[in-house]
Amino acid sequence: MGGLTAFRCRACDAVHPFLEGRWRCDCGGLLDLDFAPALDPARLSGAVPTLWRYRTALPLPKEADVVSLGEGFTPLTPARLDGVDVWLKQDHLFPSGSYKDRGASLLIGYARALGVDAVVEDSSGNAGSAMAAYSAAAGLACTVYVPESASPGKLVQMAAYGAGVVRVPGSREATALAVREAAAQSFYASHVWHPLFTHGVKTVAYELWEQLGRRAPETVVVPAGNGSLLLGVDLGFRELVRLGLAARRPRLIAVQAANCAPLHAAFVAGAAETTPFPSTVTVAEGVAIADPARGAQMLAAIRTGGGSVLAVSEAEIGDALRLLHRRGFYVEPTSAVAVAGLRRHFREGPLTDRPVAILTGHGLKATDRIASLG
Ligand SMILES: Cc1ncc(COP(=O)(O)O)c(C=O)c1O
Ligand SMILES: [Zn+2]
Repeated sequence: MGGLTAFRCRACDAVHPFLEGRWRCDCGGLLDLDFAPALDPARLSGAVPTLWRYRTALPLPKEADVVSLGEGFTPLTPARLDGVDVWLKQDHLFPSGSYKDRGASLLIGYARALGVDAVVEDSSGNAGSAMAAYSAAAGLACTVYVPESASPGKLVQMAAYGAGVVRVPGSREATALAVREAAAQSFYASHVWHPLFTHGVKTVAYELWEQLGRRAPETVVVPAGNGSLLLGVDLGFRELVRLGLAARRPRLIAVQAANCAPLHAAFVAGAAETTPFPSTVTVAEGVAIADPARGAQMLAAIRTGGGSVLAVSEAEIGDALRLLHRRGFYVEPTSAVAVAGLRRHFREGPLTDRPVAILTGHGLKATDRIASLG
C-alpha cells in the first residue's frame, strides 16, 4: 500500500492508530484516514481485472490477505438517453448486486487483518448484503440490522450468506440507533462511519479514469443518501489529481428523492450542514436517509468541485427506471434516481463532455417494488 496511515477525527483533529478497530473518535466525531496512495500507471496493463488492480492505492497492510469475490472493473457502457450520449457505469453488476461490494471487500479485509471474528452493520439492504457476502468469504460472523421495510429479496440474500438479520421497526434512523449497542461488542463495519469503506468505493473513480483513457470525466451523477458513493467518487478523483494522473476533478451531481432530500434542502439554502428532513416514503429505499451523518462533508465535496444537488419526484424516478429497463439495464429503483437527475441535467444546457451516471443496485433485488410500479 501507499504511505502509512492513521485515523484523524474531523471534529477534534485527534489522531488514532490505523490498526485499532475503532469507528469513531472518543469525542464522538467522524473519522477520516490520513493516507497517501501510490499508483504506477505503467503497471496497470495486465493487472487483475478487479478493483484490486489498484492495491497500492488502497489502505490495507501489505501482509494482509485480500478478501475478494472478483469484484470491480465493471463495464462503462455508452448509451443514448433522450437523444444525449452518456456513459453508464454498471456498478449493479457486482457479486452481491451493488456497488457496496467495493467498500465491503476492503473493510472486511481490514477487519480480518485485525483478527476480528464478528462484525455488525446497519443498512437499508445493499450494504448489509455486501457485508454479509464478504464476511462469508472471509469466514467471519456477520449480523445486519435492517429497517422492517427493507426489500424482502435483500433480507433473503443476507440470510443466505449466513448472516444474522435483525429487523428494527420504524425508520432507517431507528435501525442506526439499534446497531450502536451491538457495535460496543463487535467490529462495527459501518459503510457510513468507517473511512475504509470510502477508500474501497473510491476505486470507481480510478476505474472511470482508466476506462475513459486515463482522464477524468467532466460530470459524474450519483444517487446520494448517506453519501458513501458520493464521497468515494470525490476521494478517488482528488487522489488522482494529487498523484498527477488527472488534470482536474469532475463536477459531482448528487441526486436525491424529493420525498427525502436533506442534502438538497441544505444545498439550495446555502447551508454548510444538513438538518433532519421531514421525509415521506420513497420507492428509492437506498437513499431514504433523513439525517446523513456526513452531510457537511458531502456538501463540501459537491461545492468544491462546482457540482450541484437535485431532488427528483417519484414520477421522475419511475420514468427513469422504465427507460433504463427498456434499454436493457435492469436496475433497482434507487439507481434510477441518478438517471432521473441526469435527464434534468440535459435540460440545463449544452454538454461539452459525455456525463457519467453510476448504476448502483441490481433490479433482481427489488422485484416486489418494481412489480408494484407496474
Ligand atoms: C442501490 C443504491 N444506490 C445508492 C445508494 C446510496 O448510497 P449512500 O447512502 O451511501 O449515499 C444506496 C445505499 O444504500 C443503494 O443501495
Ligand atoms: Zn475527536
